[in-house]
Amino acid sequence: MVNEDYIRELEKKHVYGTWRYEHTWNPVVIEEGEGCYVTSLSGKRYLDLSSQLMCSNIGHHSQAVIDAIARQAEKLCYAAPGFATVPAALLGQKLAEITPGDLNKSFLTNGGSEANEAAIKIARLYTGKTKLISRYRSYHGASSGAIALTGDPRTQYAIGMPGVVRAPDCYCYRCPFGKEYPGCGITCAEYVDEIIRMEGPGTVAGVVIEPIVGSNGILVPPDEYVPRLREICDEHEALLIDDEVMAGFGRTGKMFCIEHWGVVPDIMSMAKGITGALFPVGATITRQKIADHFDQPGNLFSHGQTYAMHPLGCAAALAAIQEYEDKNLVEKAAAMGKVLEGRLNELAEAHKSVGEVRGKGLFWGIELVKDRGTKEPFVTRKQKFEPNTLKRISAVAMEMGVYVVNIINILIVAPPLITTETEIDEGIRVLDKVLEISDKEVV
Ligand SMILES: Cc1ncc(COP(=O)(O)O)c(C=O)c1O
Repeated sequence: MVNEDYIRELEKKHVYGTWRYEHTWNPVVIEEGEGCYVTSLSGKRYLDLSSQLMCSNIGHHSQAVIDAIARQAEKLCYAAPGFATVPAALLGQKLAEITPGDLNKSFLTNGGSEANEAAIKIARLYTGKTKLISRYRSYHGASSGAIALTGDPRTQYAIGMPGVVRAPDCYCYRCPFGKEYPGCGITCAEYVDEIIRMEGPGTVAGVVIEPIVGSNGILVPPDEYVPRLREICDEHEALLIDDEVMAGFGRTGKMFCIEHWGVVPDIMSMAKGITGALFPVGATITRQKIADHFDQPGNLFSHGQTYAMHPLGCAAALAAIQEYEDKNLVEKAAAMGKVLEGRLNELAEAHKSVGEVRGKGLFWGIELVKDRGTKEPFVTRKQKFEPNTLKRISAVAMEMGVYVVNIINILIVAPPLITTETEIDEGIRVLDKVLEISDKEVV
């Protein structure tokens, strides 16, 4: 009998979940998706206020992408990466066109972790140096190298990768230096300079950042931060590696988040929005100087995967990017982001458990505190995997028909870029109700 209970139990028995205690997993079974909504196997409809994992940017159904996958599947489902194919060539060209500056040549993968593994390998091969600087509040993926770069609580489950040096976060609400912007002089960026000097510039291959930190808090840096990191990297001949896996593809109101500050990174990784999550694809794009390096005889590009440049994935990505362009989704995200910002600020005023709302475009976080004065969080990093107030808030929102992601101490509000004002209001009404749960626990 294919009903929701049966499928849930079957999946729990035979399929591992992700990042959870297995015995606590009690998922809704999703059967269909359309626009900004998903529907369960029992027929209950949910407004998706977080684009699943901040990835379903173009909505849950796109005929154009489905048709592109089907057309490609009829012709050729797979070719070994030793061959060239039409969709891989065209996707490489398209990514060169839509990314900033002279980012020009890509390695094509199946997701964000793999894109970052390629970034690590390329940075080390190109510079001949091994150390990589990343930050505490960061997530770069679950595979060995990517989880080693990651600084969030999940990193405790990694065996590690030699050569990762951690830098302090750019987190103005809880400044690690106890300072306040703008008087701080962007100490968090200047400290990266200090780290490179102390580690030895001859050993540091690159600095890896999420331009706006995603699952570790939707941390939006002041405007000077990323340009200053660019200068520091240039001075020390370290690469600036921009992880746009979550923040890219229109999410923040620009095609790529780093464009807010006019900075061109040396390597950019991407995934999620590249196909609007309708197919697993990732990419690692590099500047011309890096491509030139690997064009030299003797400089082996020593990386690869069976499913690199998968024709179905490349066809899906090309069609999804066309959707962003045809439907002006990046401009729409910027405009609708203003509406969302207004509504979230109203929520912050109405609810004493809201410490701060912050974000850009359609990429927002609501940070909850028990006391606005002391900023005591509801959930600490240590409590991430334990039952907690934010998990309860998301669960009650779900019962009320709205899916909203909680990670550590924030709720992530990041609807698909096709969202309407009516849908935003529907989501805000439910958030307004569920925030009463945390309001009651304010001390
Ligand atoms: C910034 C960032 N980088 C990398 C990843 C890893 O991507 P994936 O889960 O597709 O491997 C994620 C996933 O959420 C992410 O947010």
